[in-house]
Amino acid sequence: MLVSSALTALLALSPALSLVSAAPSKQVDKPNIVFIIVDDQDARQNTIDTMPRLQRLLVDEGTKFEKFYAPISVCCPSRTSFLRAQCAHNTNITSVMPPWGGWTIFNEKGYNGHWLPTFLQKAGYYTSYVGKLMNGHSVPTFETLEAQGWDGKLSRYHAFLLDPYTYDYWNPAFSKGSSGKGVEYRPGEYSTDLVAEKGLDLLEKAAQSDKPFFVGIAPIAPHSHIDAASHSDRTIPPLFDIPRPHPRHAHLFQDVTLNYSRASHNPDVPSGASWVRQLERLNDTNVKYIEDFYRGRLQSLQAVDELVEGVVKKLEELGKLDETIIIYTADNGFEANGGHRRQPGKTLGYEEDINVPLVVRGPGVPHTIDTTSVYSLADLGATILHLAGAESDYDHDGALVPLTQDLRDQVKEEGGAKQFHLAEYWVEGVGEGKYGSGINHVNQTYRTIRVVEGDSIDYAYTVWCTGEREIYNMQTDPDQMDNLALHSHSPLSFTGRLHARLDALLLVLKNCVGDVCRDPWATVFPEGGVKGLSDALNEEYDQYFEELPRVRYSHCQIGYFQALEKPFWRDELAYSPQHYAASGSQVVLGA
Ligand SMILES: *[C@@H]1O[C@H](CO)[C@@H](O)[C@H](O)[C@H]1NC(C)=O
Ligand SMILES: *[C@@H]1O[C@H](CO)[C@@H](O)[C@H](O)[C@H]1NC(C)=O
Ligand SMILES: *[C@@H]1O[C@H](CO)[C@@H](O)[C@H](O)[C@H]1NC(C)=O
Ligand SMILES: *[C@@H]1O[C@H](CO)[C@@H](O)[C@H](O)[C@H]1NC(C)=O
Repeated sequence: MLVSSALTALLALSPALSLVSAAPSKQVDKPNIVFIIVDDQDARQNTIDTMPRLQRLLVDEGTKFEKFYAPISVCCPSRTSFLRAQCAHNTNITSVMPPWGGWTIFNEKGYNGHWLPTFLQKAGYYTSYVGKLMNGHSVPTFETLEAQGWDGKLSRYHAFLLDPYTYDYWNPAFSKGSSGKGVEYRPGEYSTDLVAEKGLDLLEKAAQSDKPFFVGIAPIAPHSHIDAASHSDRTIPPLFDIPRPHPRHAHLFQDVTLNYSRASHNPDVPSGASWVRQLERLNDTNVKYIEDFYRGRLQSLQAVDELVEGVVKKLEELGKLDETIIIYTADNGFEANGGHRRQPGKTLGYEEDINVPLVVRGPGVPHTIDTTSVYSLADLGATILHLAGAESDYDHDGALVPLTQDLRDQVKEEGGAKQFHLAEYWVEGVGEGKYGSGINHVNQTYRTIRVVEGDSIDYAYTVWCTGEREIYNMQTDPDQMDNLALHSHSPLSFTGRLHARLDALLLVLKNCVGDVCRDPWATVFPEGGVKGLSDALNEEYDQYFEELPRVRYSHCQIGYFQALEKPFWRDELAYSPQHYAASGSQVVLGA
């Protein structure tokens, strides 16, 4: 906690992008990769600051990325975007359940076998995994739809957590690695500890192979606890309950409170948009419950903190620490502060829901905090492929995250770090906690973009299926309480001009594929010259942006349907200096 805030304070004094405190060890060709992915950990509520081992062994020894995002704020879709290095609008895995998503739909779409592990195998990697893969990977489906691309299968410890036991902290069930057949039930044992134990054994097994290895370790903390029996009973919606700690951690954080000073905490006036704006203020009982929920999250993360230490120690013991990149991240964020009067949960486009931790340590990784470059889990998938010398068998959407010094140099040469993110959502919002479970929210189709450019620009922009729009200046309003789109503004005011640019960027990103996702401004300005929002804000483009069609949805419907999302970007819309030179820019746009 202290370490991280001290560094943050230091950074606040320095306008530099980052603080490189020590020369990184040399980059390794085809490094081993240990990928630790937790479930539902946000980066906004200081949760990783309460993990001292992670701070000491990963943050202090590597790079922490502060502007790292989920492409879609829900588990299986976000994991799919990572595993395929694609935006959610290209995977069309948009929910945890059929017909929109889940393991069966992932298979129907032919993604099993065309995803990260198979590409890594083809590049010569030994691949293995323990823990949660994705929703719907279950006792009935894991053998009929066997996950492809994993070598470790015949290791005793290679094991997927299986639904409906996945979120039951004290009643986990795993696929059996040794025989490849059958289920290993472990009632009464603590899920995260078993994932840790199996993960360390997997590392030993992987180190014995003569190949570089990729080992995925995916504990469920700090996800809500879901009792296995209630999860399999389809007649009543399951209770997404307070995450369960191990008894050795249950005494911790008793005096931690919610952050009552945050402007978004249970505000007097409604905030946000769509159904969020209709929420009643939370009563005291409810706020206390959310506080207990938050404590449960912190407590449940302590077993993960121990897991992280175990991984570092094991790699050291195996003599592999210097040639292994360790990555720590989460599939999506989480709101647990009564923000905007909400119950605990994810699935929205607010910063809590999409901003996730990313910490990396290993050969060639600088010791630094990166506060400005903006990347996503889809980019991280692409970067792992790149580090491994692997390739996808389709045109993926990911950009290279500057994890290592070599990658930083490369990214710099190629025009600089990515400065925007697209977060998307369709289908329904999922309620969690005692007062939220079973309440699924319709009218929850939206797209959010985040744009961060150096010290001058930090905006969030959302367009909803309801027609609502939200613009927040994240520098002055990090809690997203003052929606600039609701202020009356003329097209020529700063807000009007900003709005038009943000909308144009979203128009390009919402259907982007491949290079367009990596460099959308080059699509808007094919002749170059405009590299980001600050360039685009130049007045000479006012008329151009004002005339572009606006992003909209014809109405809200459950599911991702192109027909509702017209207009789309067309290359004829791109900026042409000739056109604007000819027509002149003195057209009065009206106040
Ligand atoms: C609580 O929120 C306030 C306002 O955003 C912030 O200044 C403060 O650092 C937060 N406190 C903690 C302990 O995170
Ligand atoms: C507080 O709010 C919750 C959730 O809306 C409700 O179920 C509960 O009855 C309320 N409790 C009191 C004491 O008003
Ligand atoms: C959904 O949004 C429409 C406007 O697009 C509104 O008429 C309707 O009442 C909303 N439904 C709910 C359940 O909020
Ligand atoms: C996404 O998948 C759903 C469910 O199969 C389908 O109805 C929808 O048309 C698909 N959307 C797109 C844009 O492909």
